[in-house]
Amino acid sequence: MNPIYLALDLPRLDAALALAQKVKSHVGGLKLGLEFFCAHGHHGVHEVAKLGLPLFLDLKLHDIPNTVAAAMQAIHVLEPAIVTVHAAGGRAMMEDAKAAAGEHCKVVGVTVLTSLDGADLTATGIGGSAHDQVLRLADLAAEAGLDGIVCSGHEVGDVHRRWKDGYLVVPGLRPDDGHHADQKRTVTPSAARRAGASVLVIGRPISRADDPVSAARAIEGTL
Ligand code: C5P
Repeated sequence: MNPIYLALDLPRLDAALALAQKVKSHVGGLKLGLEFFCAHGHHGVHEVAKLGLPLFLDLKLHDIPNTVAAAMQAIHVLEPAIVTVHAAGGRAMMEDAKAAAGEHCKVVGVTVLTSLDGADLTATGIGGSAHDQVLRLADLAAEAGLDGIVCSGHEVGDVHRRWKDGYLVVPGLRPDDGHHADQKRTVTPSAARRAGASVLVIGRPISRADDPVSAARAIEGTL
């Protein structure tokens, strides 16, 4: 199965649908984020679902267990293949989220947002490195019965060694096409896959390419 989920981070629904329609035979699923959900709601999700690919609702839910469970039940009708919750919401929240999810829905825990560096974590009271925090939250997500976690391509290898059957979702990937030579810390889709990623989330390298179909096909060809 194609592990690529295309992030449909486009503000306009018609543009998102047109892009997804174009590349749909070169990706395994479509990822809809909080921005899309707030703008287009259930209607937008239903429109994207008509394309027939599995849907990843990246809503990063984080609230008291009862509220997160109720939110999971409310999105049940959309039949998502994957939904995210914040692992920092704690064990009971994750347990209740998983219990409320549909039978065929993978619930994965967001660990540390890559927008946060060590200083940001310290400011929120979390000591130690971001890497250690990812591993700690991965262990907690596993104990809570989640299917897996979201982590960067730099951590997926270590998480995979600790959690062999964890469903590992990796965003922030950049193909090695020469356009990112100035970015030293990027990971390619194929390297993330080899390190144990189950799902490769790819947005702008496809959506902003001059030719999104060729870009998607080229990435697919490296896997
Ligand atoms: O960077 P790109 O456009 O490929 O991002 C794809 C998706 O992955 C976006 O929806 C973004 O929110 C998410 N992302 C993430 N963590 C990162 C980088 C991107 O969750 N470090």
